[in-house]
Amino acid sequence: MTILKLPLPDDFHVHLRQGDPLTDYARDMSRQFGRILVMPNTEPALQSVETILAYKKAITSAAPSLEPLMTFKIHSGLSQADLLAFKEIGVVAGKYYPAGVTTNSEDGVSDFESVFPVIALMEKMNFVFSVHGEEPGVFCLDREAAFIPKIKTLAQKFPRLRIVFEHVSTAEAVQAVLELPPNVAATITAHHLTMTLDDVIGDSLRPHHFCKPILKLPADREAIRKAAFSGNPKFFFGSDSAPHAQAKKECAYGAAGIYSAPVLLPILVREFEREGALNKLDDFIAGYGADFYGIARPTKKIELIKKSWIVSNNIHGVVPLAAGETLEWSLL
Ligand code: DOR
Ligand code: ZN
Repeated sequence: MTILKLPLPDDFHVHLRQGDPLTDYARDMSRQFGRILVMPNTEPALQSVETILAYKKAITSAAPSLEPLMTFKIHSGLSQADLLAFKEIGVVAGKYYPAGVTTNSEDGVSDFESVFPVIALMEKMNFVFSVHGEEPGVFCLDREAAFIPKIKTLAQKFPRLRIVFEHVSTAEAVQAVLELPPNVAATITAHHLTMTLDDVIGDSLRPHHFCKPILKLPADREAIRKAAFSGNPKFFFGSDSAPHAQAKKECAYGAAGIYSAPVLLPILVREFEREGALNKLDDFIAGYGADFYGIARPTKKIELIKKSWIVSNNIHGVVPLAAGETLEWSLL
């Protein structure tokens, strides 16, 4: 039996939700990851010390082995005192959501320049600026490309700000990240690495593959794959695992989000192995992200075994990525 030993990875983009489901989702993450960057699009959003600390406590109570790296949701009303207070409790990043682009982002930013003072403070105080890069109101396949000028503006105006272009889904975004200075990086998800729009609407409507930014064209996926397998430190793993109950996905106005958490490492190992790039996997899942965030690389290990298993059709009421499929790598 082939056994693969990997560093216990970091996931730099995760949604854990709230209440009872959070316990299950956090435990699913803790089986495969040591640290996770927790997204702030909860209700209420993570925008105060109290909500951030309470959320962090809920995560660590549910999954004590998991280290949550906390974020806040950016809005124009944040003051220097607010940001200092976030710094004091160890928050690492602020997340920029354009208004209305995804789940719980109705209260996102509608006036780009209105948050420049907050971003200037973030640069000064060394917070990472994490951004959902899609332009609201634009045709859905063009939203990400339409947002790139804003990323360029930020990179130019705030040259010391560390910017993460989250879940890149287009060749244009990959190219922009390659061309921008080293303070601009990107996360790549398992679903954008493996699927295209065909997997959402090609043959039948597959609501469990519906996510934001929506899966794109084969050429986009190729550019994303090339970036992930290249060993360029600007590209690292962030799953955007985003569980929604089955009924919230299988209805007239389905929620965006793919629950990839239960299958992430088996899928990543499969993809890197297929490309003959297994020697690049450690840095992608447990190196470049930590370096970019300025934290130590993981020291713990995790093992996988080449033994096939069938992914469950429903995990805690959610249909996961690769439901019903056979995966060749299992967690040991
Ligand atoms: O598909 C997505 N789901 N994309 C996001 O950006 C947010 C996420 C969610 O929270 O459901
Ligand atoms: Zn997300």
